[in-house]
Amino acid sequence: MTHSFASAGYTDGDVDTNPSLTPSLEMLADERYSRRQTLFGGLGATSMALFGTTMLAACGGDDGDVDQGPVVTPGAVAATSAGRVVTLTATTSADTISGAWTQSSGTPVTLTPVDATTATFVAPAVSATQDMVFAYNVTTHRGARVGANSTVRVNPAVLGFAAVPKNLADIVTVPAGYTVTVMTRLGDPLEVGVSAYANNGTDGDFDKRIGDHGDALAWFGLSATATRDDSSSTRGLMVQNHENLNVQYLHPNGPTNVSNGPRPQGEALKEMMAHGVSVSEYADSGTRKWAYVPGSRFNRRITPATVMQFNGPAARSAMLVTAFSPDGTRGRGTINNCANGISAWGTNLTCEENWAGYFRRGEPGVAGTAADNALRSPRELVSLNRYGVSGNVGNYAWSTVATTDTLFTRWDARVKAAAAAGDFRNEPNQYGWVVEIDPYDPTSTPRKRTALGRSGHEGAFVHAVAGKRLGVYMGDDGRREYLYKYVSNAAWSEGDRNSANRLAVGDKYLDAGVLHVARFEADGTGRWLPLVFGQVPNLANYTFADQADILVNARLAADAVGATPMDRPEWTGGNPVTGEIYLTLTNNNAALRPLNDTNAANPRHYNDPRGAAKTAQFGNPNGHVLRLRENGDDPAATGFRWDNYLFGADSTDADPTNVNLSGLTADNDFSSPDGLYFSRSTNPAGQIRPLLWLQTDDGAMTDRSNCMMLAALPGTVGDGGARTIINRGANGATATQTTLVGAAASAASLRRFLVGPVQCELTGIDSTPDGRTIFVGIQHPGEDGIPAAPSSNWPDSQGNANVARTIRPRSAIVAITKDDGGVIAL
Ligand code: FEO
Ligand code: CA
Ligand code: CA
Repeated sequence: MTHSFASAGYTDGDVDTNPSLTPSLEMLADERYSRRQTLFGGLGATSMALFGTTMLAACGGDDGDVDQGPVVTPGAVAATSAGRVVTLTATTSADTISGAWTQSSGTPVTLTPVDATTATFVAPAVSATQDMVFAYNVTTHRGARVGANSTVRVNPAVLGFAAVPKNLADIVTVPAGYTVTVMTRLGDPLEVGVSAYANNGTDGDFDKRIGDHGDALAWFGLSATATRDDSSSTRGLMVQNHENLNVQYLHPNGPTNVSNGPRPQGEALKEMMAHGVSVSEYADSGTRKWAYVPGSRFNRRITPATVMQFNGPAARSAMLVTAFSPDGTRGRGTINNCANGISAWGTNLTCEENWAGYFRRGEPGVAGTAADNALRSPRELVSLNRYGVSGNVGNYAWSTVATTDTLFTRWDARVKAAAAAGDFRNEPNQYGWVVEIDPYDPTSTPRKRTALGRSGHEGAFVHAVAGKRLGVYMGDDGRREYLYKYVSNAAWSEGDRNSANRLAVGDKYLDAGVLHVARFEADGTGRWLPLVFGQVPNLANYTFADQADILVNARLAADAVGATPMDRPEWTGGNPVTGEIYLTLTNNNAALRPLNDTNAANPRHYNDPRGAAKTAQFGNPNGHVLRLRENGDDPAATGFRWDNYLFGADSTDADPTNVNLSGLTADNDFSSPDGLYFSRSTNPAGQIRPLLWLQTDDGAMTDRSNCMMLAALPGTVGDGGARTIINRGANGATATQTTLVGAAASAASLRRFLVGPVQCELTGIDSTPDGRTIFVGIQHPGEDGIPAAPSSNWPDSQGNANVARTIRPRSAIVAITKDDGGVIAL
């Protein structure tokens, strides 16, 4: 008697086997795939492809009427696409002793045995349809048998999820077929013995807890023996910035005297320590069951009290001298850490963004800074004004604490002593830097890399190409601020990638080089203008003294060379295949991007009416994403080509001709892009046609949705064309502007993947190297609430519709996994 066997490895348990070996296998696969989609509510191609191999096997048992071994019917073909899980399932006859799947053609993949007959693999990236051939070979009591071929036809990667609708729910919403796991949250203990977070304002010890306002994050892999392992997707260190505070929730009833002081010392200390950077270990206990490790020896808090070292041309400058650092080589801490970068050598770059607001230059209740101004040189005043160090008591009035402890008094930047070494007049010059951290060495001293310049640093994307000088791309987040690029003097050597002395590698590449700033021309070209002492002209009100001065006052130098003022440069990221650099430009307003002051790179001026009242929002409230390609694909190039990849817009009320230039729809419209991240090149999402993630920090379209994250498959610079638009101002006046617009978005190239909880910002994203888990930062949910009436209860609200409405919200990281184990978003 002959039996036929066919079995498909669906996990939904709802699939019957097809006993026939007719050429219907592909049809069967299609049918099952459709069924799977139905199971997910028709939400698209989220499911694994699967296929069964079909074996026509003889029963070798005691019936003894057939002596052939398994015969696999050739020609079975099943289709899938890159990044999806494929399950191969065989059914064997009773006399089978052992068996295994083997691959005979196609891009080699790792087959993971699930049981004796089932194996899975992740479909690899392909540039064109590729057939992969597998067979299940067995040993029976009658000898070895070679199975017939089964073919898996792999198509290029596509967005494989149904767009998440815009919504105002107080949860993280992801597509069907995905799971959200809440990871480290504000206040979670990083050391054994630290109490669980009470989350009622009574907690202290923030130097041993996860900080507030989690921002950019990065995964650094660890091996099973706790050494650096860039390929690990099961154990790693999560490095996260803690930008700022929802200060109202940090104390039992909100902060005391927060605008004027005097501040209670305990409150000020708590607030200070909830800033900075955290390092926490994450571990997968099996098939992406994620948890953090509270007692890991790698866990660390870097706070505004952590001693830092200054490196590069501005170290030892008189401009960095303070009472804490008379020689200008040291500093304490980092503040307002926003976006980040990952070096090519296993370190994290954390970026100091809106640090200027923390400093005090006046007296409570006395408007302005006149008293301190009178004690300052004209040059100092130009610098202080350009960077906005003009606070009365500073954001949280920490210097108003009644103490002589310089941990607090240093936030007072007024001239107090005869010389800079006697006070903290230069403390503002100690911030605004890119700071390098070695997460693998918890005792290491972070280094502030002054060669990269001082600004409102949003991020630092490191582009390392073997044999070429390294490029670091940095947005300066302010209206009309600039895009910068640092180019190392040393060419990148792959031999430095795995050095054990990571900060020394940082010294080699990040302490000696040339800072540049971008100028965008209307014809789609651009230039990198070097900020080098002697080449930078002086300003009418400012004469540069030396290279340290150029770096400390990089914004002034960029003004002097004629850089292009942008619509708030946020994150930078690089396409790992093309090398093209992307930059989010989150938004601008009518005051700083008026109707007649647009340019080709920042082309729009329009109104996005908000809410039922249609409140006017003029300027570029929805932002856009620009991209550039270096000449010769060299990170050290002095020129480039650019276009505007994507324009944010409210698809409901935006003018389709002049505002919604990328043709956004309800499934992919967004506003105020901020986080930007290409998938890692170690998995199919970052290969061939890499997947781009965009995160929003929006205030313009929040009448329609909470902030969100989108997945995109972008093209290349120049895939669209020139366009002339008509801008419209508040008074009805119009102006024309020519720009360069990338190819329009489509359902295939841009989809909303996630919507966050109430009043949050999406910021921070990385994935495991295998792309099967992404980690995403949810910042400041419920930021407009009060302790007695929180406006969000997230993350406690996630999966709990009956959450107590009194529970305070917490910033947190979520791990997002696909239920079938596939690469996220594909
Ligand atoms: Fe902290 Fe520009 O975002
Ligand atoms: Ca609107
Ligand atoms: Ca940001």
